[in-house]
Order: sequence, then C-alpha cells, then structure tokens
Amino acid sequence: MSDSNSHSSGDRGGSEAPHPQAGTRTYSEVRRGEQRSDNEGIHMKANWSETKNPYLPDLATVIGVIDETPNIKSFRVVLNDEEKMKRFSFEPGQVGQLSIFGVGESTFVINSPPTRMEYLQFSVMKAGEATAALHDLSVGDQIGVRAPLGNWFPYQEMKGRNILFVGGGIGLAPLRTLILFMLDTRKDYGDITIIYGARSHADLCYKEDIEAWGKSNDVELILTVDANSPGPPIREGFVPTVLNEVAPKPDNKVAITCGPPIMIKYVLQNLAQLGFNDEDVITTLEARMKCGIGLCGRCNIGSRFICKDGPVFSLAELKRLKFEI
Ligand SMILES: Cc1cc2nc3c(=O)[nH]c(=O)nc-3n(C[C@H](O)[C@H](O)[C@H](O)COP(=O)(O)OP(=O)(O)OC[C@H]3O[C@@H](n4cnc5c(N)ncnc54)[C@H](O)[C@@H]3O)c2cc1C
Ligand code: FES
Repeated sequence: MSDSNSHSSGDRGGSEAPHPQAGTRTYSEVRRGEQRSDNEGIHMKANWSETKNPYLPDLATVIGVIDETPNIKSFRVVLNDEEKMKRFSFEPGQVGQLSIFGVGESTFVINSPPTRMEYLQFSVMKAGEATAALHDLSVGDQIGVRAPLGNWFPYQEMKGRNILFVGGGIGLAPLRTLILFMLDTRKDYGDITIIYGARSHADLCYKEDIEAWGKSNDVELILTVDANSPGPPIREGFVPTVLNEVAPKPDNKVAITCGPPIMIKYVLQNLAQLGFNDEDVITTLEARMKCGIGLCGRCNIGSRFICKDGPVFSLAELKRLKFEI
C-alpha cells in the first residue's frame, strides 16, 4: 500500500478550511465554496484535461473480481495507460462512469481510497442490463472508465471531529472510501463509529474490511441484519432502529450516511431527534445519470446537478434545495 499519509486535497479549490466548530464557516458554507470551484471545472483538472473530449472513456483492465454478496461484485481496475494511472487522482466520494462496450455506461463510486492507488475499486450491485454485463466480467477484461466525476466528502473540514458512519447494503461503498481514507490518516480524526446493516449476514459487503474493523481499536463497529441469520454475533434490526439504540451523542460529531432511500429517510429523522445539526449530517444521493458532467440535464435537483454539484450533500443543503428524501 502506498504511503498512507501522503494524500493531499490538491486542487480542491481551497486549502484547509477553518473548522466549523470554530464558528467561522459551516459545512454548507465550506461546501458552497467548493462547489464554486467545481463549477469552474477544477475537479476535472487532474485527469480530464488530458482527454479533451469528456465523453471519451479511458481504457482499463480488470485485475481483480471479488464476490461481495450474492448480487454484488467488486472490480479492481487499472487504466491501460500506465503513466495516466500513475497521475490519476481523485477525492473520497467521487464517482466514475464505467462502460461495457456494446452495452452501456453506468455510475459507480470509486470505493478504494485515494491513499491506496494500486487500483481503483468499484462495487456493482446487479440491477439491469449494464450491471449484469459488468457481473460477467473476468480478470483481464477491458472496460471504459470516465473518472473522477462529481464532488466529494468534505474530509478536510472534518479534521478533529468525531465521525459517525451509518450505512446500509451497497451504501457502504462510498463510506468505505472515506473510512479507509480516515484510517490511513487516523491521527487527523477523533472517534470513528460505524453502524452498518444489511438484509442478512450474506448481504453484508466488504467482509474482509468488516473483520478488520471489528478487531481494530481505531474504530467502533456495530453490525446489524434485518432478520436473524447465521454469522458472527451481530445485532438484529433495521439500521435506523439500531442507530436509536446506540444513541450516539452529537458532541463534535459529523454523521455520514448512505444506503437505500428508505433507510436514509429514517436515519436522517433519527439523527435530528438525537440532536445532530443539519450542517453536520452528510449523505450521498443517487440519480439516474447520463453525461455525468452537468451537460445533459438528466440528474438535476432544482438548479443543481447531482452528477456535478453532488453526489455528496449536507442535510442543510438538501433542505435549502427543497429536496425530499
Ligand atoms: C452517484 C451515483 C453513485 C452510484 N454508485 C453505485 C455503486 O457504487 N454501486 C452500485 O451498485 N450502484 C451505484 N449506483 C447505481 C448504479 O449507477 C445503477 O444501479 C446502474 O446504473 C443501473 O444500471 P443498469 O443498466 O444495470 O440498470 P437499469 O436497467 O438502468 O436499471 C435497473 C433498475 O435499477 C434502477 N436504477 C437505475 N439506476 C439507478 C440509480 N442511480 N438509483 C436508483 N435506482 C436506479 C432502475 O430504475 C431500474 O429499476 C450509483 C448511482 C449514482 C447516481
Ligand atoms: S448526468 Fe447529465 S447533467 Fe447530470
């Protein structure tokens, strides 16, 4: 693995933003600043300027396939152009468009962290034609990659804060990027708690990570499944219910959640009841996408595009955009 502390936010359009606790800028204010940078195209600079045509994917090779659950596989890919792969940079939470030639293109979060650049990992839940075609890929197969796209988690502004991750099912994918990134830059963050649930033990993603996090003193891991199923000692119950049982205090804490829309809806409600500020609650949105670069108008919410201004939003921003979860 590469030097875990070598990652820097580079061209994020802002150096170290003041800590929200310092009473200077809230998350949303910080993120609006980032958005302005994004709108100027800065988030595309690292890789897209080389490509000129933003619709043209880079050719990549599958170097690993992991069966995560009965309907989710992870794919480790490297760009065929070795020099481009070496220069490739992205931020935790950014996504890529994967194309399967002759079938189509779909959006997936890069769920390996930018501190580990041997490959890019994408996890794919089988949903329709494109994801089924991806599931048929084997090591050595070629795909197209357009990445990185979108915004990212405001991890610089989370420095010194306690972090609560709340994930469900494949929703652990974007959280995984940030969890691994924070573990690789551990001293920058306070306590890290992960609440993660799936339908059954077999449906829990990233079992190797889960095992490692369960043994680690660096994180507190709480697992749950919807119904009783064989496996290590894990709780039984829906994620929002378990969140209420754990009842984390909001003290100096940022909550980041991703999962099925119904889970997110109740997690957001419960976080509010637990006393979390809207500014300190962050989620990622999914919408059907096409161009992925704010041109086709497929993914807008109000005046914003999920592909370009998102997929990461604070709850405060979503409320301002009048977005109903
Ligand atoms: C920002 C973002 C990040 C994503 N990250 C991941 C990821 O890491 N892993 C992953 O497995 N999936 C992810 N998705 C969802 C993924 O893009 C879709 O599941 C995929 O495009 C479906 O393609 P398909 O051709 O196989 O299915 P389709 O035939 O296009 O659709 C099959 C079914 O899935 C539904 N669907 C398709 N796209 C979406 C969507 N975006 N949101 C909700 N329902 C959808 C359709 O309505 C339909 O019911 C992400 C989506 C976005 C927008
Ligand atoms: S996918 Fe085209 S504008 Fe977002």
